[in-house]
Amino acid sequence: MSAPQSAKVREREHAIQLDVTDPLKGFRKEFLIPTKAQLESLAVSNSDDGSEPCIYFCGNSLGLQPRRTAQRIASHLSAWATKGVLGHFTEHEDSNLPPFLHVDDAAAKLMAPLVGAETNEVAVMETLTANLHLLMSSFYTPTEEKYKIIIEGKAFPSDHYAVESQIRHRGFDPEQAMVLIEPDRLELATISTSHILSVIDKHASTTALVLLPGIQYYTGQYLDIKTITAHAHRHGILIGWDLAHAVGNVDLRLREWDVDFAAWCNYKYVNSGPGAIGGLFVNSRHGQVDVSAMRDGGEGFRDRLCGWWGGSKSTRFEMGNHFVPIPGAAGWQVGNPSALALTAVIASLEIFALTDMATIRAKSIAMTACLEDLLLHPLSANRSCKEALPYQIITPSDPEERGAQLSVRVEPGLLGGVMRLLEDAGVVVDERRPDVIRVAPAPLYNTFQEVWDFANIFTWACSETQAGTVHGSQEAAALKGQDQKGWAKFKQTGY
Ligand SMILES: Cc1ncc(COP(=O)(O)O)c(C=O)c1O
Repeated sequence: MSAPQSAKVREREHAIQLDVTDPLKGFRKEFLIPTKAQLESLAVSNSDDGSEPCIYFCGNSLGLQPRRTAQRIASHLSAWATKGVLGHFTEHEDSNLPPFLHVDDAAAKLMAPLVGAETNEVAVMETLTANLHLLMSSFYTPTEEKYKIIIEGKAFPSDHYAVESQIRHRGFDPEQAMVLIEPDRLELATISTSHILSVIDKHASTTALVLLPGIQYYTGQYLDIKTITAHAHRHGILIGWDLAHAVGNVDLRLREWDVDFAAWCNYKYVNSGPGAIGGLFVNSRHGQVDVSAMRDGGEGFRDRLCGWWGGSKSTRFEMGNHFVPIPGAAGWQVGNPSALALTAVIASLEIFALTDMATIRAKSIAMTACLEDLLLHPLSANRSCKEALPYQIITPSDPEERGAQLSVRVEPGLLGGVMRLLEDAGVVVDERRPDVIRVAPAPLYNTFQEVWDFANIFTWACSETQAGTVHGSQEAAALKGQDQKGWAKFKQTGY
């Protein structure tokens, strides 16, 4: 399945044409795109008024709601209302929903293709941080000789805290046991693969585990999972990946790359709602259960923090106290998952099942390249952007080294003003202080036309802020509304 190739979109009509030939163009209607009026209103009950949709480039933070999510959840609510506890076991003839008891299996089956895994290597469960803890409880088994965990120095804070506390929990000192990889490409805040490999080499004899992000949340850098995993394995070190920003974004091959374990959240590119249930991957090699070894008094499975939901379904309700895990990732489950919350993940994954990650990634590469080109070569008469750009893209320009997101570092003092102008023009992106704006066109619901419009609004907003049109934040409230007129006027007149 081919996607639009052209990164050089100099005319808006060209962008519109790319949308016409986009193989994923039908997917946008699967989603609820907030209108500008809805975003401005303080009421959440504000139904679609038919006004212009916003430009939503924030799927890296919270993906948009699929239309079918409400229907699927409503069906489960009906099953609960009409069957009560029997809903756990009853097949629901009038919907394609599984009984509550098997919703986790249905979710894992749909999730596996997104990460390039076998179904039994995936579990849809808990939250990302909780999953990192559960996985490290199994995969971080420090000894006096090998006790270190290598992570990046600029890791997402939750990962940092999780690693630090796991080290302490095992009786070691994070000062000695935590190795932080700092960026070597300082001006971009990114880390080269060779630098990561050299840090692994340096600490190989004392390291028990490596934990890295598939895509770095701040810079948008996509690490070379395959090469780094193979390198850690050559040293006999286990390696896990935080895929929060990679899942549903890039074409992952966790099984092929022989990753040991991974965890992710499903509220970003997987569009399953705020605080949605997350997911984890355990390589089938680590998920085996040897029942005969257990019969002979041995463990028979990789040690873990156990709970009844990770136990064999055939004996789960016998209420015995001899834990026999489900083989594979499902054996890491601990408690009874929320069928309603899992259903939101399933609803979204049904949409992914209508296409494949290769097609999604192809469109994503084309869109992000188009965005990069328009930002680096602004078209409009925006004053300052014509001469020297008041911003820098810190995300690598090689498509192999990034996903959908571009992280744009603006000149000191511009962030607040630019963000306010974007908001007033109906653009949703997010900021990471002190100076980065993250921009992520999501291939399932964004268009090339939006990319074109965004680039123009963004360069205009930088220009206006630089020229001092936008005042300090204390004046922002008073000015709100004026700038929207400002962008509308600029659009018409070019001034
Ligand atoms: C890279 C990364 N790791 C961890 C987390 C924490 O996820 P959760 O709150 O779902 O545990 C996030 C949340 O955005 C994240 O982006």
